[in-house]
Amino acid sequence: MAKSRPSTRFFCNECGYESAKWMGQCPACKAWNTMVEEPVSRTTRAPGSGIKRTNISEPVSVSAISLGSSERFQTGMSELDRVLGGGVVPGSLVLVGGDPGIGKSTLLLQLMRQLSSSGHTVLYISGEESLAQIKMRAMRIGEFDDRLLLLTETDLTVIDEVIRKYKPEAVVIDSIQTMFSDNVASAPGSVSQVREATNLLMNIAKTMCIAIFIVGHVTKEGTVAGPRVLEHMVDTVLYFEGDRHASYRIVRAVKNRFGSTNEIGVFEMRNEGLRQVANPSEYMLSGRPHDSAGSCVVCAMEGTRPMLVEVQALVCHSSFGIPRRQATGIDINRVNLLMAVLEKRMGYHLGECDAYLNVAGGMRMNEPAMDLGIAVSAVSSFKNAVIASDTVVFGEVGLSGEVRSVTLAQNRVAEAAKLGFTQIVMPASNAASLEKNVAKAAKIIPVESLYDAIKVIL
Ligand code: TYD
Ligand code: MG
Repeated sequence: MAKSRPSTRFFCNECGYESAKWMGQCPACKAWNTMVEEPVSRTTRAPGSGIKRTNISEPVSVSAISLGSSERFQTGMSELDRVLGGGVVPGSLVLVGGDPGIGKSTLLLQLMRQLSSSGHTVLYISGEESLAQIKMRAMRIGEFDDRLLLLTETDLTVIDEVIRKYKPEAVVIDSIQTMFSDNVASAPGSVSQVREATNLLMNIAKTMCIAIFIVGHVTKEGTVAGPRVLEHMVDTVLYFEGDRHASYRIVRAVKNRFGSTNEIGVFEMRNEGLRQVANPSEYMLSGRPHDSAGSCVVCAMEGTRPMLVEVQALVCHSSFGIPRRQATGIDINRVNLLMAVLEKRMGYHLGECDAYLNVAGGMRMNEPAMDLGIAVSAVSSFKNAVIASDTVVFGEVGLSGEVRSVTLAQNRVAEAAKLGFTQIVMPASNAASLEKNVAKAAKIIPVESLYDAIKVIL
């Protein structure tokens, strides 16, 4: 005999953990005060009580599977194509997360515009804005094709019907937190509702072979609001990020079942919408000061893409007992470590100095190859000595002050040479294996230790 189920359950807002009673701390993700009470649907079937299946699924070999129509289609925005792994995959479910006002709706509207103008029927469903509001945004962006359909709706049953009727090839759901399904009694945006909505959309995407883009708002902690489960369910998770005060925006793949997660796409927010930035290095370096101590150009990789950024350091005498260390765009622990290496191996008295480090332009760079640039710019500021403005540095620094090799040195040198840098200070172990034509493009200065590097640069 089946027991009657309680009509409400508790869900963790962070990870979606489900429990019959309230708890102060979620046992799954250890977050405090995240359990919320939500009604549960009565239609949930107990496991095993489902319909008896008559046909059994047969396993098949990889070579026997035909790809059918699942060929990717190009978006017309190469920055986005790259992040998606080479285009939109039909039948894929893509989650686009980002802070409010960063430009998610703009990005997806532009994406839909591109797709519609290349002959695809697409549907943009908004649960947040009225048709007039969308029209206003569209007018800033430009001309639109008639194959782009707009709908303001939050009821998933209606959405399902509309999709079945119009059979679009791509759909945008803006945003998942506003959608609701009758199957679940709780309010839109709640954990169970978001989960149910995503499930339904997943079903539509897979059965009808439609690419669905879901907008998800991001919480203070930087994860998509609602359960983390959302990220597990979808095929691809993209984060749209950027400094609100700077105009550039970055699309980053956090998870991708159809491609690499290392790739980023760079955009600039303009009055007429987002514009692709084909050469981010040039963009990041614009406005760089010349002949200023503490400034150093570093070549870091973002996925397979080399990017030149300026590291700025300000090292000054500390007026308090404990020196202040602050870093923007780079890991503060890495900065502390490099400061310790400089102090111990090179004998600089940085223990009495405050140090502020910054990656100009607001980029976040967490790559070991940044090490050498961070160390060199700190010393440059400390000694008040200028680094020649045509110099690019890269290399990982070890605890004994040795400069270690990094990946893809070839691409980094090529990028630096392309942007007109004439001197490249790099790990000796990498310099030996450079191809001849690349090595000739600029003056290569191989270094084995931090000591060597500082000697040649400063
Ligand atoms: P929006 O796409 O509404 O952000 P989200 O959906 O992520 O909340 O973008 C809103 C911001 O973008 C807003 O601050 C204004 C700016 N914007 C422009 O600068 N130019 C434009 O052409 C558009 C459409 C928006
Ligand atoms: Mg929006």
